[in-house]
Amino acid sequence: MKIIIIGATTGIGKALAELYISQGNEVILTGRRLKLLEEIQEAYPTQQIHISQMDVVNITDARQIMQALADKHGGFDKIIINAGVGFGKASFEEEIQTIDVNVKGFVAIAQWAYAYFKNKGGGHIVGVSSLAALRSSPYAPEYHASKAFVSSYMEGLRLRSSKFRHNIAVTDIRPGFVDTPMTKQNKGMFWVASPEKAAKQIVAAIESKKNVAYITKRYFLLAILMKVFPEWLLAKIL
Ligand SMILES: NC(=O)c1ccc[n+]([C@@H]2O[C@H](COP(=O)([O-])OP(=O)(O)OC[C@H]3O[C@@H](n4cnc5c(N)ncnc54)[C@H](OP(=O)(O)O)[C@@H]3O)[C@@H](O)[C@H]2O)c1
Repeated sequence: MKIIIIGATTGIGKALAELYISQGNEVILTGRRLKLLEEIQEAYPTQQIHISQMDVVNITDARQIMQALADKHGGFDKIIINAGVGFGKASFEEEIQTIDVNVKGFVAIAQWAYAYFKNKGGGHIVGVSSLAALRSSPYAPEYHASKAFVSSYMEGLRLRSSKFRHNIAVTDIRPGFVDTPMTKQNKGMFWVASPEKAAKQIVAAIESKKNVAYITKRYFLLAILMKVFPEWLLAKIL
């Protein structure tokens, strides 16, 4: 299986890369920090690991890199779009960066991925959204809104694939809290999973071609509640 992971340098993306590598898959890993990608490559000298520097904010370059990697490595079976940023109390610049990476960067890759798999006759797109997609919060409205976009976009791609029989599976991964560099500054986290545990559950969800998967699974219960909570109750709890 040939899998490309967008945003594989740290956290969930790195854990996913290492799990897929340990299962003997050929992986193509991307991210801005080339040094971190080289370290993963060096840690598994006998495995088929290809790396490429990519900043998804440079949307034209990123899409060209996707095409070049597909040509160079004989295509992909799965495209995992994991790259994302989130800030605590975001400044205006950080809010815009969140939209640039999580929304514009996501669409740049997901739109390319859909066209690629349509042309190929099928494939699997995986996007890492968040439980935050379900409702907003007083702390990071831009992050919640960006993930709501991601989940909605993926639902649209699934509907498109089903309506026009494009044979493209689309899996929306919605983690709760995972212990990664992104959440280092967070306070008040609960049900926190290690990146390794999260990666195991994500790979299981991908293998069973789930439409939507909560990571870890217990967050499914919270998701049900979050969907029905009235806003006044959210205001009291958060
Ligand atoms: N941790 C959680 O609790 C949690 C919960 C829900 C959802 N998520 C989502 O899970 C995904 C992974 O996050 P994480 O927690 O593992 O955080 P992380 O360790 O900070 O990883 C973020 C990844 O995104 C990449 N990235 C960021 N900006 C990029 C850009 N402009 N171009 C290309 N790659 C970029 C980073 O690589 P470079 O910096 O090297 O480019 C890194 O590999 C994100 O989409 C996040 O929103 C996380």
